[in-house]
Amino acid sequence: MLAPDARVVMVSGAGRGIGRAVAERLHADGFHLSLGARRPEQLEDLVASWSPAGATRGPDGTEPAAVLCHRFDAADPASSEDWVAATAERFGGIDALVNNAGVLAPFAVDAFDEEALDTMWAVNVKAPARLTSLAWPHLCRSGHGRVVNLASLSAKRVRNGFAPGYAMTKHALLALTHATRQAGWDHGVRAVALCPSFVDTAMIAGVDPGPEPIVQPADVAELVSMALCLPDHLSVPEIVVNCRREDLF
Ligand SMILES: NC(=O)c1ccc[n+]([C@@H]2O[C@H](COP(=O)([O-])OP(=O)(O)OC[C@H]3O[C@@H](n4cnc5c(N)ncnc54)[C@H](OP(=O)(O)O)[C@@H]3O)[C@@H](O)[C@H]2O)c1
Repeated sequence: MLAPDARVVMVSGAGRGIGRAVAERLHADGFHLSLGARRPEQLEDLVASWSPAGATRGPDGTEPAAVLCHRFDAADPASSEDWVAATAERFGGIDALVNNAGVLAPFAVDAFDEEALDTMWAVNVKAPARLTSLAWPHLCRSGHGRVVNLASLSAKRVRNGFAPGYAMTKHALLALTHATRQAGWDHGVRAVALCPSFVDTAMIAGVDPGPEPIVQPADVAELVSMALCLPDHLSVPEIVVNCRREDLF
């Protein structure tokens, strides 16, 4: 396993939902964090709870894990450039990128919504591709770079009729993950697509996930943590998670 100590992880959409749970988990693990949010002030209470008394110490007991909060808006490409540059400057490198920010804008096949699809394409596909490209030299230099893309079970199959556009973008994110894995292999970069079904966040407010318990953000955060710590010879390209029985998953 790769130790979190001194490794620098960028997390997009860290202000709420799964991204916030990932930030909490990775901080507890001892990673240095660069947290991206459209409104970085969303993170103030979380980061305040970590310092100084709540700061996680490294395994040697001396070095508290460091945190940078930075503006990141998928709709503003310059914010991606600024965020990656600020992270590299603050920490001297980048070891991992968690592309978590995402949006679900439902429309039906017979009610195409161009604006909704453009929004999802920008957040769910273009921004992860842009961030991966910008962070690439740093990930390669790390020697053990990691990219974790928050895809969805909707990247593996199309089941929910209200969201074909979401599934389209998540299939594209899965393609980006495999392209990243292949391009990065010889540089020690490993990429994984996390493909959960319903996770208990605001994204699925108004959706009936059925009577069974659903996945919690902390469950996903645990998988992200695991994916970041796997050694290079344990490449896991996809982690498919369901909270109910379906034919294939
Ligand atoms: N919840 C589920 O059932 C589920 C299942 C499978 C996969 N996922 C995926 O998991 C990821 C996190 O989802 P979630 O459940 O935590 O959803 P969420 O609670 O709705 O949070 C979405 C996150 O994405 C950010 N975001 C949205 N648009 C953005 C933009 N233009 N620029 C930057 N950040 C933006 C949000 O920031 P703001 O606060 O600024 O809006 C927020 O931090 C997404 O990629 C989602 O597709 C979710």
